Amino acid sequence: MRGSRLAHAAGAAALVAAAGCTPRPPAPVAAPASLAAAYHGAFLVGAALNDAQFSGRDSAEAALVAAQFSSVSPENVLKWESVHPRPGVYDFDAADRYVAFGRRHGMFVVGHTLVWHNQTPRWVFEDSAGRAVSRDTLIARMRDHILTVVGRYRGRVNGWDVVNEAVADDGTLRRSPWQTIIGDDFIAMAFRFAHEADPDAQLVYNDYALENAPKRQGVLALVRLLLAEGVPITGVGLQEHDRLDWPSPESVDTTIAAFAALGVKVMITELDVDVLPRAVAQTGADVSLRAAARAELDPWPDSLPDPVQQALARRYAALFGVFLRHRGRVARVTFWGVTDRDSWRNDWPVRGRTNYPTLFGRDGRPKPAFDAVMEAAGAAGAGP
Ligand code: G3I
Repeated sequence: MRGSRLAHAAGAAALVAAAGCTPRPPAPVAAPASLAAAYHGAFLVGAALNDAQFSGRDSAEAALVAAQFSSVSPENVLKWESVHPRPGVYDFDAADRYVAFGRRHGMFVVGHTLVWHNQTPRWVFEDSAGRAVSRDTLIARMRDHILTVVGRYRGRVNGWDVVNEAVADDGTLRRSPWQTIIGDDFIAMAFRFAHEADPDAQLVYNDYALENAPKRQGVLALVRLLLAEGVPITGVGLQEHDRLDWPSPESVDTTIAAFAALGVKVMITELDVDVLPRAVAQTGADVSLRAAARAELDPWPDSLPDPVQQALARRYAALFGVFLRHRGRVARVTFWGVTDRDSWRNDWPVRGRTNYPTLFGRDGRPKPAFDAVMEAAGAAGAGP
């Protein structure tokens, strides 16, 4: 598969010879060896990293990341509970290692995430007696957090997921503590604070399941409103926590086109493909959903059967075909995890399953899905 460009070059030389021209030996066109190289010029290809990878404890995966990707995202270490666990206490040890890793390897460095309802300590929303704080207090806490975190990495973190998952499945704003205490304008405020802290950083609204029409309409309306108010939003992140059969490539295409038409950058921020039996009815990535373990929900604890492996490869090829059709509008595609071993999909919504959602196996070797994604780039003429 990866030799297909060489084969094309050889085929062209044969045609020239058949036409009676003096044949010249074909210049070998080396097939790109990495996802980053294969998609160079189309969009960045990234991965979300855990502490073992960017701190070097997992040296094999650190090397794999350095070899394959042009962008990195922090899976957990820049979330509020990690960097700002207690009032007035910031802890940047792990986040500093993450940013240093990305800079060292010349990658586009993403910050994830500033304002979310998950992985945010309860103290943020409460006073010392456990009562909800006032609007002004919560705004002041949000401003301090954003100015401190974004300000620390000004010029070194290239883009931030400023607000994460603020829209509910029905398209209305989620009733999170941010929304109920501050009001709907907490979103615009977060973007303005982030812009104040780093005027050059890309600022993104990030959410899941935007292929579901009511939610997509809600986020489209939100982004239109922010743009009309002059809020400094530069992009929308489509998370793409997908399944083999959801969402359809056509609906991913429609969704990208709808956001691109607003004039913002589109990023695929958290891509993975769940191959296991469905354990909850909802699509997307609501981390509060949980389902009990049952043997039939974990059918492949040792290895993935070949037909499913091939279905995963076809699924990834179809998705990248859509992303490639929108090159120039899609700025990056980031996998949420490097290998199947790292993925949060092993623990959600059922804990302790064996899932296969990425391009690399538990041993770090590329899977057929990797070859399919590389081939999709070659077929579309992306890369060097
Ligand atoms: O911090 C504890 C640690 O002290 C303990 O040793 C360990 C043992 O299990 O648990 C640690 O907390 C876990 C945390 O990840 C850090 O590893 C939590 O239990 C676990 O629930 C948490 O999951 C993360 C999840 O966000 C939580 O919201 C996943 O790793 C992370 O992949 C996931 O990422 C989110 C994006 O940020 C937003 N979009 C959806 C996406 C998938 O849920």
